[in-house]
Amino acid sequence: MSATDDYDYLFKIVLIGDSGVGKSNLLLRFHKNEFNGGQRETIGVEFATKTIEFDNVHVKAQVWDTAGQERYRAVTSAFYRGSLGALLVYDITRHDSFRNAERWLSELREYAGEDCIVMLVGNKSDLRHLRAVSAEEAKAFSENSRLSFIETSAKDSTNVETAFTRIIKEIY
Ligand code: GTP
Ligand code: MG
Repeated sequence: MSATDDYDYLFKIVLIGDSGVGKSNLLLRFHKNEFNGGQRETIGVEFATKTIEFDNVHVKAQVWDTAGQERYRAVTSAFYRGSLGALLVYDITRHDSFRNAERWLSELREYAGEDCIVMLVGNKSDLRHLRAVSAEEAKAFSENSRLSFIETSAKDSTNVETAFTRIIKEIY
C-alpha cells in the first residue's frame, strides 16, 4: 500500500434507527471527529468514507446515513443494497426508539439480507441521568436477535471509534 487512497476492501455499512437518535452525529464523529449540537434532520441519503487499518489490511468503510423520518427517506432498496453491515441505533433516553429497533431490523433483513452483520447501538450514553433503556434490557434483545451490542456517545466520543472498528472487523 503506498497511496493513501489505496485499500484492500470496501465495506458498505448503513446507519438505521428512528429520527433523532444520533445517526448523523455518530457518522460526523467517526468521519471528522466533530459533533453538531443543533437539530438537523437528514433528508434523503448522505454518506462518508474512512479507511481504517488493522492486521496490515486497509478497509475503506463507506457509511450510508439516511433519514429516520419516513417522509424524508430515499428509495429503501437502493439504500440497503450491497450493505455488509449495519449500525442499528436507538437513543438510551427514549424507550420508543429502542422498541422500534425490531421494525428496523426486519426492514434491514428484507432489503439487505440475512448475512448483513448488525450491531445494536445505544447512543447518548452521556445522558445517564435521563436513561430509559437499561443496558441489560438491550443486551437481552441483542442476544436473542444475535446482534452485537455497544453503548456510545457521539457527544463525548465514547465508543464511537470502537463501534465502527468492531463492526468492520466482524465483517472482515
Ligand atoms: P434523523 O436524521 O432525523 O434520522 O436523525 P439522526 O438520527 O441523524 O439524529 P442527529 O444526529 O441529527 O441527532 C439528533 C439530536 O440528538 C441532535 O440535537 C444531536 O445534537 C443530539 N445528539 C446526537 N448524538 C448525541 C449524543 O451522543 N449525546 C447527546 N447528548 N446528544 C446527541
Ligand atoms: Mg440524520
